[in-house]
Amino acid sequence: MKIFKTKKELQDYLETERVNLKKIALIPTMGALHEGHISLLNYAKPLSDIRVCSIFVNPTQFNDPKDLEKYPRPLEQDIQLLEAADCDVLFLPSVAEMYPDPQEKWHIDLNGLDEMWEGKMRPGHFQGVTQVVYKLFHLVQPDIACFGQKDFQQVMVIQHMIKEKNLPITIALCPTIRDKNGLALSSRNMRLSANGKTQALALSSTLQFIKDNFAIQPLAELQEQASDKLQQSDGVSLEYLAICETTTLHQANVIEPGKKYVALVTAWVEDVRLIDNMILN
Ligand code: PAF
Repeated sequence: MKIFKTKKELQDYLETERVNLKKIALIPTMGALHEGHISLLNYAKPLSDIRVCSIFVNPTQFNDPKDLEKYPRPLEQDIQLLEAADCDVLFLPSVAEMYPDPQEKWHIDLNGLDEMWEGKMRPGHFQGVTQVVYKLFHLVQPDIACFGQKDFQQVMVIQHMIKEKNLPITIALCPTIRDKNGLALSSRNMRLSANGKTQALALSSTLQFIKDNFAIQPLAELQEQASDKLQQSDGVSLEYLAICETTTLHQANVIEPGKKYVALVTAWVEDVRLIDNMILN
């Protein structure tokens, strides 16, 4: 696996590969890699010739400086995992490399997608995500970029940016990887005790309950029942739960023909903020 720390090295390498008509896949990450990330690399394998994984803890998407400081950076372990997954290129830039102008301004109209759900709880987060992802797209010019469904709103935001900026990139929405009990894999799960992990299963079981009853029960009633179920679960403190239309993420009251729906949930277990979702139809 080649490791590049500068934009120039990365671009020079990719330029020669592109001349040879190689298909490039980008897997952007912030490191602390787990099976979920590796599944993105595996997803990209049959669809591309060169897989570029980036590890960059992007400061502009954190609204709490303590969170940024505490973010895990197990680099040696990440490199081993990427090598084992047969990754071709790791892009590992510094903050100065990605943001040579610390005062750089960025704003993109995301049609309100950045102000709801996760965006409401973390103001500015999706502007920061789009800022860095746009830079990565510009540098790598991938044919395909892979993102996990676990961060569903993030993927919708990036899809919107692709349309807005007219970028010739296919976004792959890759399935959420779950442990054998159904808990969605996340770097944050490391902070849960064995009991916390059991309590956290209430999120996936509630999403499954919504999926099982979707199209059987009126949506408002189903949302209320699911929220009650979660609020009554031991050790779980609910932040939000909503059934939404997938492209606008507007909360849905009725099922409209031809539209797709997703249930989004965020809750706290043992001081760990967990998010999960399930596509319903
Ligand atoms: O999902 C993430 O890890 C990050 O938000 C991303 C897409 C790598 C941008 O920093």
